[in-house]
Order: sequence, then structure tokens, then C-alpha cells
Amino acid sequence: MKNIVILISGGGSNMAAIVKTAQRERWVEKYGARVAAVISNKADAPGLQFASAQGIVTEVLEHKAYSDREAFDAALAQLIDRYDSPGQPVLVLLAGFMRILTPGFVNRYAGRLVNIHPSLLPAFSGLHTHQRAIDAGCKVAGATVHLVTAELDHGPILAQAAVPVLPGDTADALSARVLTQEHLIYPQAIAGLLRKT
Ligand code: GRF
Repeated sequence: MKNIVILISGGGSNMAAIVKTAQRERWVEKYGARVAAVISNKADAPGLQFASAQGIVTEVLEHKAYSDREAFDAALAQLIDRYDSPGQPVLVLLAGFMRILTPGFVNRYAGRLVNIHPSLLPAFSGLHTHQRAIDAGCKVAGATVHLVTAELDHGPILAQAAVPVLPGDTADALSARVLTQEHLIYPQAIAGLLRKT
């Protein structure tokens, strides 16, 4: 069985979309893959409740308990690697995981570490993407699913979706519009990866 581990920090709506799609599309039967665990760096991340209600193992690894990024990432990798199966390395998905990962961590999971970013990369990497798109006068915005590489928000693009920026849009309104597309493209990009492996 190929295990998928999803890392979250908050609401976890992208994680939930992946879990629901995996169930609906029967990823276990189709690809021999399952969402095995959800790990949060925050104990109060609302997404944890959804995951455990689905019978998925949840873990909390508080970054504040570690002296530096290296120590946190080493502990995180140790937790994740428990989900390696023989000949089937774990697939790691970042879904609203609000921590910058060290190059050592990123290299360890090269080619099997995926992120979703709420902009049409390479535009607007980093934070506050929706307000920045509005301020720049963009007529379209969107989201990108990409492989994670050492340079923040710059890895190979797996999928993108675009939405219009409407007159009078607030960052919250645009964010909600983009999020509905995130929930479609993230699961589909992962299914695409699973088909190839
Ligand atoms: C999403 O917009 C995602 O692209 C970004 O953070 C947000 C997380 O939302 N990285 P959720 O936790 O998946 O609901």
C-alpha cells in the first residue's frame, strides 16, 4: 500500500477534499494508495477533527517545542518515514502547512513532496497572494499544485486553475473563489501522480 501523509496547520479544507476524493474515486482499489496520516504543527488545527472522524491517524508535532528548523524537520521526517512501505516511499502533501521546510527535508522527499499555493505561480509566491493580485490589478487569479523544491514556491507545476478577479473583490472573496478550485485540482493532481507510480 502506498501511504499518503498530509501536513496541515489550519482548516484543512484541501486535506478534506483529497480524503473525500480518495474515498469517492476508490484510490485504494485503483492505485493501492490511501491517506494514512494527517500531521499538524498546531494542536488546535480544525482539520484534525475531520481527519480523525474519517478514521485517519492524526499526529501533532508542535514546532514551538523544537529549538530550530532543523530539529523540527528531523522530528517531522522521523514521523513521516514510519509510513514508508517496502518499495513504496510515502507521498507527502502540504495542504495549508504554514512552515518553511529546510533544504535537507525537501531533498529527502524530492519528487514526492507536493504543495498547493493560492496563486498562479510563478506570480505571487509567498504570503498574502490574493491581496497582492487585487492590488496589482490582475484580471485573473488562481492556484497552483507543484512539486516542492528548495526554492520556495518554485518547483515544477503539476496543475493550475484560474478564476476571474471581479470588480470590488476583497481578499476574502477572491480567496473563497480560488479555494473552490484548489479543492478540485489538488486531488486530481495527486491522482495523476499515483497513476504514474
Ligand atoms: C489554501 O489557500 C492553500 O492554498 C494555502 O493555504 C490555504 C489552506 O487552506 N497554502 P486549507 O487549510 O486547506 O483549508
